[in-house]
Amino acid sequence: MPNLDLVVNEIADEMRQRPDRGEVATYIPELARVDANAFGIAVIDADGNVAAAGDSDTSFSIQSISKVFTLTLALGKVGDRLWSRVGREPSGSPFNSIVQLEREQGIPRNPFINAGAIAVTDVILSGHQPREALGEILRFMRFLADDPAITIDKAVAASEQRTGFRNIALANYMKSFGVIENPVDFTLGVYFHHCAIAMSCKQLAMAGRFLAHEGRNPSTGLSVVHRERARRINAIMLTCGHYDGSGEFAYRVGLPGKSGVGGGILAIAPGKASIAVWAPGLDNAGNSHLGRIALETLAKRMGWSIFG
Ligand code: DON
Repeated sequence: MPNLDLVVNEIADEMRQRPDRGEVATYIPELARVDANAFGIAVIDADGNVAAAGDSDTSFSIQSISKVFTLTLALGKVGDRLWSRVGREPSGSPFNSIVQLEREQGIPRNPFINAGAIAVTDVILSGHQPREALGEILRFMRFLADDPAITIDKAVAASEQRTGFRNIALANYMKSFGVIENPVDFTLGVYFHHCAIAMSCKQLAMAGRFLAHEGRNPSTGLSVVHRERARRINAIMLTCGHYDGSGEFAYRVGLPGKSGVGGGILAIAPGKASIAVWAPGLDNAGNSHLGRIALETLAKRMGWSIFG
């Protein structure tokens, strides 16, 4: 078995030298301020060993990666009833697309496209005030990452709240079909804020460990979700985690993964490791360009693709 520390450091060196970095997201103005040359990677194996390199301690905006954790919370709250509000099929469309919603009566294709994630946030919000729902999400992230210092970047949340016209449209459109229960601005407020949670690669890799180990944190033995639920969340990450780039990600990397427009990707090597990478430049589908290449290289050198 190749030495994980060595492989992770090699990958960080190789990524640092590449001229192709993709384009930093600018539609959320605050995200445009990030350093396009940043690169971080952290891998945590089953024994809790951390292999990390580059900017692995620098916090970045996790954006859509938060949707893995809100999906986990919503499934914990309402179980399989969630699937009457949101589907679990790949959309083949961009993350902020509205077209399928009309044909499919306001039911979003899956929990990771923006419409689906907004519907999931609405499920978490029901019965609570927005502040409580957000507190629950943040506490869950802190618990999973075992780090009470994780916070929300309020400037990023405010920036998206000011400019999130597409999400506002998506939420109103779903509301017209009765898919959103709460006031649209409450649901969106929670959504924008959980997308603005800031974490480092090391914290994110920690938070993802339960998905790599049948629903448990292997260091503490504590169960977060049932193994069947972990398996299913991984399945949705594999099929839907990269929007209309999900097929390409499965083809090249071969691991369940979830991207965010902040340039992060959380990837899961089942039974082996939880992995977080961060490189802010994105490809055409809004997924981290170098992040995907780094994961492809890691999966290949470690022999971790789930497809053998
Ligand atoms: O709703 C949005 O557009 C952002 N808060 C999150 C989008 C995102 O991260 C898409 N990922 N690649």
